[in-house]
Order: sequence, then C-alpha cells, then structure tokens
Amino acid sequence: MKGVLLAGGTGSRLYPLTRITNKHLLPIYDRPMIQWAIEALVNAGICDIMLVTGGTHAGEFLRLLGNGHEFGIDRLSYGYQERPGGIAEALGLAERFVDGDPVLVMLADNVVERSIRPMVEAFSAEPEGARILLTPVEETEHLRHLGVPELDAEGRVVRIVEKPADPPSKFGVTGIYCYDGGVFDVIKRLEPSGRGELEITDVNNHYVSEGSMRYDVLEGFWGDAGESIDAYYVVNDFVRAFGANNP
Ligand code: DAU
Repeated sequence: MKGVLLAGGTGSRLYPLTRITNKHLLPIYDRPMIQWAIEALVNAGICDIMLVTGGTHAGEFLRLLGNGHEFGIDRLSYGYQERPGGIAEALGLAERFVDGDPVLVMLADNVVERSIRPMVEAFSAEPEGARILLTPVEETEHLRHLGVPELDAEGRVVRIVEKPADPPSKFGVTGIYCYDGGVFDVIKRLEPSGRGELEITDVNNHYVSEGSMRYDVLEGFWGDAGESIDAYYVVNDFVRAFGANNP
C-alpha cells in the first residue's frame, strides 16, 4: 500500500505563524508536525510515500526530510501544488505515483494517539472502494468545522456533510482515508465547491453512493492541529503528555 501525505494549503487559521513557514513544519512538542504524520504511516508499514505541498516554503520539507531514510521511509517522492485548490486536487497530483495501487491518504495536520495499523490492515485485506476513520466528537461547535457522517439505523454511512450547520451525528471524519486505485477517476469528475476547491468529502460521497464506503472508529485522541490556534495547543499539550502513534 502506498501513502500520500498532504501538506499544502494556506494555513490561514494559524496566521501569522504560517506567514513565515508552512503549517506542517510548526512544532508539535519536540518535532515538526509533519514528522508525526510520517511516523503514523511508517508504523503502519507504509514506507513508499509521496508528500504533496505548495507555497513558498516547500523547499524546507526537502531540507528536513531529505530522502526520508532517517525516518524509516524507503522511497520519498515529492509533489508540488501550484495553488491551494483543495484536498482532492492535491491528492490528484499523486496519480502517477500511486499507479493504480491501494493508497492511504493523510492530512499532515492530523495527529492520532493510537496506531492506524488496524485500518491499514483492514483495507489491505479488502482493497476495494474506500475506508475512512471516524472519531467521536461531543461538541456541536467542533463538529461544524469537520466533515460529519449521517448514519442509518444499521450504522451505515448515508452521506457525509462538510462543515454542517446542523451536524447529523456525533462523529467527525478524520483526515485519514484509504482508497482503491480508482480514486483518481473520481477526482477527475469533481466540480469545484462553493469555496472553489475540489473537496475530499465529494470524493467520499461518491464511494458512499456506490455502496463501497466502509469505516472504522478511532480509539484514543485525535486532533487537527491546523483547525485553530487553540486546537494547535490542545494537540501540543496532548502529545507532550502522552505521545502519538502509540501501539
Ligand atoms: O481534519 C479533518 C478535516 O479535514 C475533515 O473532517 C474534513 O472533512 C476535511 O475537509 C478537512 O477539513 P479542513 O478544514 O481541516 O481542511 P483544510 O483546508 O484545513 O486542509 C487540511 C489539510 O489538507 C491541510 O493540512 C493541508 C492539506 N491541503 C489543503 C488544501 C485546501 C492541501 O494539501 N492542499 C489544499 O489545497
């Protein structure tokens, strides 16, 4: 299984910090944010990785990560997104790298307490369609900043709503996704959303409507360090106290 780490975007919610560097290079406890995402993939056995980034600080990833060997990566490829056209657009840049294989995609500002290996193994065993990772979220205000699934009585995903005013469940969709090699055909058929981006939620809803979307519910802490300055510090405090990507 291949891995794609998405580390582009503007990071505008963390201004002014992100005027002088890329969000994913800001520290989370004792290392740059991106290293926690790399560790999540490598610990799950994914060592063939493409990092997609953009903007004026892209070169600093090369300086930090080099060929990736120091971090347990066998082959580290880089992709450059010309403008922040959305998560699905950034993923689209990895088409030739993925080359029809199953792929795990992770937004590099997501940090998890526990290993993502169970999800990776479940998808590897049946690498068709898509698989997402949900996390229980209590606060309605927090859910309004996420993708939120609507579930039917049997617990199947009926649809996913991006940043809902009225969240249809108490689960957030984390930025960790598994797709089959057909995902790039789905991306090619997407239309930009109201905010002018190709949305990963539209990709996921394609798989939902096809009946080929599965999910796992994450155990332990999940945080999106790019959501706000407060969220950034919640993630920092958590990782400092408990670490991340624990078995
Ligand atoms: O963190 C989980 C949430 O991530 C999900 O619940 C949402 O469904 C999903 O849309 C996403 O929402 P965000 O508002 O957090 O997305 P954001 O625009 O902040 O982008 C998240 C990451 O994707 C960020 O770390 C960088 C990368 N990205 C984003 C854009 C817009 C790119 O690489 N290129 C882009 O053009």
